[in-house]
Amino acid sequence: MMRASSYVAALAYLTLAAAVPLREAVGQGGNQAASSSTATPSLNFEFFKAKVQPVFLAKRPGHARCVVCHTVNNAPFHLVSLSPGSATWDEAQSRQNFELVQRVVVPGYEGSKLLTHPLAERAGGDPHHGGGQQFASQDDPEWSTLKAFVLGATLK
Ligand code: HEC
Repeated sequence: MMRASSYVAALAYLTLAAAVPLREAVGQGGNQAASSSTATPSLNFEFFKAKVQPVFLAKRPGHARCVVCHTVNNAPFHLVSLSPGSATWDEAQSRQNFELVQRVVVPGYEGSKLLTHPLAERAGGDPHHGGGQQFASQDDPEWSTLKAFVLGATLK
């Protein structure tokens, strides 16, 4: 027959064993990407500034530029207005954009709105985007840049 102290030890062990998976489950709660125990990637500001912002500024045939609509409309995706006479954002504005873009990015999650919304539906994108299907395929180099950012890419 077990002595009381053994019961306590056994109970403590069981509680501990149960607590670990519980903590992992809670950690994954807000993140649909974390299907395994691998660490969630973090978004890199330098990559965003150097590689992603140019995608928001670029003109694609048959489409308006992201910056044209997303500085003025009320969509969840919002960008800071360019300063008069400026073709790109300065450091402080880039920092703001980096914060703002996180409304439509779940780090590590390929289903993030930033990726699905401007992508053609037949390529796996959302059925409707007020700004059109700006990227015809997932092989598009600019779309690949957005995806790399979401997955935590850094500048080499
Ligand atoms: C012609 C204007 C226009 C352009 C250009 C445009 N968008 Fe949009 N976008 C919209 C509108 C309107 C909405 C809100 C309605 C909707 O969901 O389509 C929106 C919504 C979004 C959302 C938020 C979706 C959500 O539900 O959270 C994302 C992300 C987005 N756009 C990304 C982009 C990207 C990236 C580009 C450039 C490649 C771009 N958009 C270009 C008009 C535009």
